[in-house]
Amino acid sequence: MRILHIVGARPNFMKVAPIMREMFRHPKDFHQLLVHTGQHYAPQMSQVFFQELDLPQPDVNLNVGSGTHAWQTAQIMMRFEPVLLDYRPDWVVVYGDVNSTLACSLVSTKLGFQVAHVEAGLRSFDRSMPEEINRILTDHLSDLLFTPSKDADQNLKREGIAGNKVHLVGNVMIDTLVHLLPKSQSYWYQLVNLYPREYILVTLHRPANVDDGATLAEIMSALETICDEIPVLFPIHPRTKERLNEFGLQPKNPRLYIIEPLGYLDFLALQEHAVLVLTDSGGIQEETTYLGVPCLTARPNTERPVTISIGTNQLVESEQTALVQAMQARLSGSRGKKKMPPLWDGHTAGRIVKVFRQH
Ligand code: UD1
Repeated sequence: MRILHIVGARPNFMKVAPIMREMFRHPKDFHQLLVHTGQHYAPQMSQVFFQELDLPQPDVNLNVGSGTHAWQTAQIMMRFEPVLLDYRPDWVVVYGDVNSTLACSLVSTKLGFQVAHVEAGLRSFDRSMPEEINRILTDHLSDLLFTPSKDADQNLKREGIAGNKVHLVGNVMIDTLVHLLPKSQSYWYQLVNLYPREYILVTLHRPANVDDGATLAEIMSALETICDEIPVLFPIHPRTKERLNEFGLQPKNPRLYIIEPLGYLDFLALQEHAVLVLTDSGGIQEETTYLGVPCLTARPNTERPVTISIGTNQLVESEQTALVQAMQARLSGSRGKKKMPPLWDGHTAGRIVKVFRQH
């Protein structure tokens, strides 16, 4: 069976890695091609993950880079088409909800190639998020849909997607976490004098939080306030770094450490030992759930409701007072008993590969 995997942006890499590894265990059954669209191209947003996740170098890099949504999506489509026609896979496997996911699904379906979507069925019900559009369209283009949790199956059913295409397999990103947790480590503690459970870890990159100067100012002012109580470590996404410079919002408080984006092993160690994580990422809501670390998500909604029902995650408004109050409340509260959504067990890739072998 010929499999063509598509990756493009940072959150795709930890999802493809366990599936490729599992397929490599059956070389007679699977021939794999890894295509990187180049949506993320900075070494610390891409290359470092290939090394740490033990991913093979991409067979093809479309080198698309940054641009508007229309430009980026169109460029990926145009550059991907000849690669697809040349390799002629039995399955194109797409991951998550980034522009590369949608662009390659659309090209594949139009040319009659079968598409499998890993992390299908998630919905924030917020169409102002580019990822929500990517998720809905990719799911409706796909022939096989691998879901991480029951709510995803219900969303797909409600949208009329045939049940026989949908397979509840669990969360493949947790496979990577389980695999690499023993290896994860960070030197940042020594570098900036932090101690386990005595710092807040922050990541922010959503357009809704960082592209508007007034909103980003609210968030930065909340971080400057809270770091009088406890230091804050903020590995910064390139988009956010650009906006901080553009809006003149660089922090003044020396206990707010803004550092370059981190690799997987470093970031995992810092998550595990944080007293609290503040984020607007999707994957980090899930990783903190697995680790049992309290997480505040600076968004009005989440496509990962299971992280809230389990109890680690909580939504918070991107407004100074709300953020400070929520952080203080979580710092003074106790951690509940660790719970895990079903099938977040490190064996999702095995279940996915089993489904492919039956097709
Ligand atoms: C993309 C995904 C988002 C995902 C995020 C993870 C879409 C619509 N969004 O958002 O779902 O959570 O990746 O990071 O696909 N840039 C660099 N170097 C890079 C990549 C980007 O400097 O390697 C800068 C560029 O200025 C670019 C900006 O970051 O304009 C945004 O990059 P882009 O890939 O368009 O979206 P993300 O915000 O990263």
